[in-house]
Amino acid sequence: MTPFPPAAFPTTRFRRMRTSAQLRGLMRENTLTADDLIWPVFVMEGEDAEHPIASMPGVSRLTVGRVVRAAEQAAELGIPAICLFPYIEQSRKTEDCAEAWDADNLSNRAIRAIKAGVPDIAVMTDIALDPYNINGHDGYVVDGQILNDETVEALVKMALAQADAGADILGPSDMMDGRIGAIRSALETAGHSNVTILSYAAKYASAFYGPFRDAVGASGALKGDKNTYQMDPGNSDEALRLVARDIADGADMVMVKPGMPYLDICRRVKESFGVPTYAYQVSGEYAMLKGAGLNGWVDGQKVMMESLLSFKRAGCDGILTYFAPEAARLLRGG
Ligand code: PBG
Repeated sequence: MTPFPPAAFPTTRFRRMRTSAQLRGLMRENTLTADDLIWPVFVMEGEDAEHPIASMPGVSRLTVGRVVRAAEQAAELGIPAICLFPYIEQSRKTEDCAEAWDADNLSNRAIRAIKAGVPDIAVMTDIALDPYNINGHDGYVVDGQILNDETVEALVKMALAQADAGADILGPSDMMDGRIGAIRSALETAGHSNVTILSYAAKYASAFYGPFRDAVGASGALKGDKNTYQMDPGNSDEALRLVARDIADGADMVMVKPGMPYLDICRRVKESFGVPTYAYQVSGEYAMLKGAGLNGWVDGQKVMMESLLSFKRAGCDGILTYFAPEAARLLRGG
């Protein structure tokens, strides 16, 4: 849309509409609400405990019971969904990643516990092999290569186990080709026709995931980088092709990840397809904002809210963010 050309000064004075909070409120184009937030949380084994993540101040891994309590608080704050990431102990990581589709693995136990205890929150999952993989990669590694089709077969098993456990939203974050179609058709066959897929469609090979890899215990395991499956940060048209492919294959929603450095991609995706579009404000983005806030270098609350609003302005329908409860509390009035 081309803006209507303004009349010359002083007929037009833009500052007139900024003179009061009321006028500014009337002309505000985008707003953030709790409804826009998906809260990623880290789950660990154990009883009634938590473990702070040094590179993500204010974020901890939680045991299943504590995740249920966190989900309750999130639901009370009006947050529509929580997204689970498991911290898998080293002894359970293998080359075949069989733990990933065990019906009683940590993640599936957490899904069941939340679904049983907190009816008013949707549960989102992560589909990728990295927490379970002795090599730290999202796919099977053979002779230094990441195998695509064999990995997709494993991801389908993982998706079905999560759907059986009661997950509402499946989040394939692995970037293998063909996984959305394979998961969608397996869900239909298994009678899970209402389970939704939020595809990590445009996921870049980013250094902003560093703190997350600490949180899920993958930093030490990962050999090499993820450049043969995650996207090159220089690309933009490729993101549109990936989104088009994933929608055609059965994704209900798509994601751009990371968030703030890729707002241009969010805008292009939303304008090109008009599908439910989400951004993941990832661990490194959280660490930068939170770290600067805690040091008093910026106003932590204000940069948090401004950063979240930027996603709405870029066209996103929602944001995965570690700030979700803090932002929802502020939106409710503190
Ligand atoms: C892995 C996965 C990653 C994140 C979500 N799922 C890391 C990676 O791809 O290495 C990153 C999230 C974050 O940084 O907050 N499947």
